[in-house]
Amino acid sequence: MASQLHKTLLCATLLLLLLLLPRALLVKASLGSQGRALLHWKATLRSPQSLRSWNLNSSPCNWTGVTCNYPVTGRRRSVITEISLPRMGLAGPLDALDFSALGSLLRLNLSYNQLGGAIPPAISALSRLVSLDLTSNQFTSKIPVGMGSMKELRFLSLSQNQMVGTIPPSLNNLTGLMSLHLEDNKLVGVIPKELGRLHELMYLDIGVNRLSGSIPSSLGNLTKLYHLDLYQNQLTGVIPRELTNLVNLVYLSIADNTLTGGVLSSFGNLNICKSGVLQYLILSMNNFQGPIPITLKNCTTLERVRLEYNQLTGDVSQCLGVYPHLYYMDLSFNLLSGTVSPDWARWHNLTRLRISNNNITGVIPTEFGQLTKLQDLDLSSNYLQGEIPKSFGSLTLLYNLSLGNNQLVGHVPPEFGMLSNIPIFIIWI
Ligand SMILES: *[C@@H]1O[C@H](CO)[C@@H](O)[C@H](O)[C@H]1NC(C)=O
Ligand SMILES: *[C@@H]1O[C@H](CO)[C@@H](O)[C@H](O)[C@H]1NC(C)=O
Ligand SMILES: *[C@@H]1O[C@H](CO)[C@@H](O)[C@H](O)[C@H]1NC(C)=O
Ligand SMILES: *[C@@H]1O[C@H](CO)[C@@H](O)[C@H](O)[C@H]1NC(C)=O
Ligand SMILES: *[C@@H]1O[C@H](CO)[C@@H](O)[C@H](O)[C@H]1NC(C)=O
Ligand SMILES: *[C@@H]1O[C@H](CO)[C@@H](O)[C@H](O)[C@H]1NC(C)=O
Ligand SMILES: *[C@@H]1O[C@H](CO)[C@@H](O)[C@H](O)[C@H]1NC(C)=O
Ligand SMILES: *[C@@H]1O[C@H](CO)[C@@H](O)[C@H](O)[C@H]1NC(C)=O
Repeated sequence: MASQLHKTLLCATLLLLLLLLPRALLVKASLGSQGRALLHWKATLRSPQSLRSWNLNSSPCNWTGVTCNYPVTGRRRSVITEISLPRMGLAGPLDALDFSALGSLLRLNLSYNQLGGAIPPAISALSRLVSLDLTSNQFTSKIPVGMGSMKELRFLSLSQNQMVGTIPPSLNNLTGLMSLHLEDNKLVGVIPKELGRLHELMYLDIGVNRLSGSIPSSLGNLTKLYHLDLYQNQLTGVIPRELTNLVNLVYLSIADNTLTGGVLSSFGNLNICKSGVLQYLILSMNNFQGPIPITLKNCTTLERVRLEYNQLTGDVSQCLGVYPHLYYMDLSFNLLSGTVSPDWARWHNLTRLRISNNNITGVIPTEFGQLTKLQDLDLSSNYLQGEIPKSFGSLTLLYNLSLGNNQLVGHVPPEFGMLSNIPIFIIWI
């Protein structure tokens, strides 16, 4: 009876060993296959000196840029969870990397290298990846459609490459994405309206591409956005009024497109900074017409405002408010009228103001002498009259003053000798 029990126990133990052993080997082998995948890729790179530590004499967990961790099951076997090799001088392709061997990877950072060729569709095998940073390389392919299946992604940057083709609508499956950087590529086609489904998105930059069509109104659904940059594309049409739903927006740039219409005026009837957090408003170099939105007056959080090179109209002394944080305002090359308001002397942080090439009249207020941080003032090509106020003598940081092509009279006040910065550029025509 006892020996029967003994036999049964022995059998059970053997069975258990048989069951466990291959699993243990498998996990061990899997770290081996991860290492082999990385060595195989290294062999395809030019000048991989920075990866000297990547060799068979040590565990991949000890290699430069490689981080391992224990899998969630708690088994004390390591897997590679992170590869971080920014600015390592890596040059060569990515397609020799066997992504299917790296299924445990959570973070991959290969930014600021010279990796090129295609971003391989096989990259979507990294199904647990949370962060993918390929910023500033030389990738020239399309964005793989299959990347839409990398559902854990929170951060994705393909910016500063030469990516071609369109933005695949499949990216709308990345519903956890918080940060999407596609700027500075050669992407064409429209901004897919499906991006409006990325409800967690806080940062979206698709500037400096060749995107056309209109701004999808669905972007107004991205209410967590604080940074939206569509700068330098070929976008047309109007700013959708839905964008005013973006109540967390701190940074908005739509500059250098061909947006048109009485856009800004319809935008203006809504509250452009409803949230009270907008700091950067950059709409320059479009075809915006109509008045500067009256709602801008209450936007006291503004720091940088660029509306130059549009066809904006209206009285500047009426539509601008008091901006204690403002350091840069450019309204040049519009059709603005009215006078320079003494109230602007309360923009205490102002370093640069440009309103050249408008229809501004009246005199330069003597209060401008209070703008002690002012370095650069351009009021040229307007209809200003009177003299340069003597108070300008206290603008000790001013080094670039352009007042030419106005109807100013008199002489440069002797107080200007107090201006300490040289060279002073005074353009006086
Ligand atoms: C990593 O390297 C250190 C010394 O640099 C060594 O003590 C350790 O055993 C190595 N670990 C592995 C897993 O190779
Ligand atoms: C990748 O590395 C660069 C350089 O160290 C760093 O600035 C960047 O934040 C990293 N990317 C991510 C997603 O952490
Ligand atoms: C991703 O989204 C597209 C439509 O945009 C859909 O056809 C596809 O089935 C989705 N893929 C996955 C893996 O969810
Ligand atoms: C997103 O925005 C569009 C257009 O503004 C709207 O029709 C749609 O219902 C919104 N979808 C979601 C999921 O919020
Ligand atoms: C600006 O704010 C003041 C006080 O909060 C309010 O009375 C006024 O209507 C606002 N003006 C605009 C144009 O929103
Ligand atoms: C003024 O601008 C500087 C940067 O130019 C910034 O550090 C500072 O916080 C600003 N001050 C205010 C009151 O906004
Ligand atoms: C600007 O001023 C010029 C000359 O006085 C005038 O012909 C033009 O109609 C004005 N334009 C606007 C938009 O006020
Ligand atoms: C001075 O102002 C002019 C006109 O606004 C501008 O074109 C030029 O670049 C400025 N120069 C410097 C040195 O900032």
